[in-house]
Amino acid sequence: MTTSDIILTGITTTGTPHIGNYVGAIRPAIEASRQARAQSFYFLADYHALVKCHDPQVLRQSTLEVAATWLALGLDTDRSIFYRQTDIPEILELTWILTCMTAKGLMNRAHAYKAAVQENESIKAKDPDKGINMGLFCYPVLMAADILLFKANKVPVGKDQIQHLEMARDIALRFNHTYGETFVPPEAVTSDSTAVLQGLDGRKMSKSYNNTIPLFVPAKRLRKLIMKIKTNSQGPEEPKDPETCTLFQIYQAFAQPEEVEALRLRYAQGIAWGEMKQLLFEYINNLLEAPRARYEELLQHPEHIEKILQEGAHKAREYSRPFLTSVRKVIGVQAVG
Ligand code: TRP
Repeated sequence: MTTSDIILTGITTTGTPHIGNYVGAIRPAIEASRQARAQSFYFLADYHALVKCHDPQVLRQSTLEVAATWLALGLDTDRSIFYRQTDIPEILELTWILTCMTAKGLMNRAHAYKAAVQENESIKAKDPDKGINMGLFCYPVLMAADILLFKANKVPVGKDQIQHLEMARDIALRFNHTYGETFVPPEAVTSDSTAVLQGLDGRKMSKSYNNTIPLFVPAKRLRKLIMKIKTNSQGPEEPKDPETCTLFQIYQAFAQPEEVEALRLRYAQGIAWGEMKQLLFEYINNLLEAPRARYEELLQHPEHIEKILQEGAHKAREYSRPFLTSVRKVIGVQAVG
C-alpha cells in the first residue's frame, strides 16, 4: 500500500463475529487502520444485511454488536473513516445511476444469485427465482457504489468477493467509456497468508457449520468451547503432530513465533490434550480479556457508538457529497436554468 492508496472495505453486519473472522479479516484490517500511510474507509454494510435480514430488532442489534467489536479491538477512528452504510444517502443515489450502467446479463452470472437459482432447480421449484429478492440480484451494484463513491483503488476482501470486485471494475469501465473518466476501477486485495482457522469439529470455522468460537463470550463459556475442540485419541505421553492439530493452529494464529516454536517442542515431547486445551484457553482468554471488557462497556453505551458512527458519516460525506454532485453533472442531472 502506498500513501496515495485509498483502501475501503465493507463489514457485513450479520451474525456474531468469531475468532476466525478476527484472525482472517478484523485483525489485519485494524492493523492497516493504524498505519497512517493510506486513507482507509471501513463501513458497516447494513443495507447488504437487509437483503437477508428482515427482523428489525436483529438488524439493529447486529449492527451495534459488530460496531462495538471493531471499536473494542482498537480500530483507529481518527486515522480511518468508520461509518454505517445507511448513513450515506449518496451510496443509494449512486446505486441507481450504476444500475442503469449495468448489464442484466452480468448480474445473472453473479455466484450468489446463481447458487440460489441452482438451489431452486435442485428442489424442482416451479419458479427458478423462488424466494430471491431484487436485493440479492442487485447486491453487486450496491457493492460497486460503496467502492466507486470513495474512489477506492484497493479493496481488502475474502476470496469469495473477488467476482464482486470484477463486477465493480466492469461497471466503472462501462461508465467511464460512456461518460468519460469518472470512476477509479478498484482492485481486490486478498491475502493467502491470513489464516483460515479450523472450528470445533476440525472443519473450517464458519457460522454455517455451527462450529465457531465467538470472540467475546464470557471466560467460562470460552473455556467450555475450547474443551470441546476435537482432538485425536493419542495418549498423554505420546509425541503429537502440531500441523494437523486444531488447538495448535489456533494457538499459532494468536501467539508470537518464539512461543509457537516452544509449543512445537512440547508437542514433540508429548503434551496431554487436556493440558494443551487449558493452555490455549489461558492464552486466548488473556488476550481477549481487555477488549471483551471494552466491548461490554460499549454495548452498555450505544450512544457512544452512535456518536462515533455519526462522526464517521460526517467525514465520509465530505468525500461523497461533492463527488456525487460531479457525477450528477456528468450524466446530465442538474438544474435546468
Ligand atoms: N459483500 C461483502 C462481504 O460479504 C461486504 C461488502 C459490502 C463489501 N460492500 C463492500 C466489501 C464493499 C468490500 C467493499 O464480505
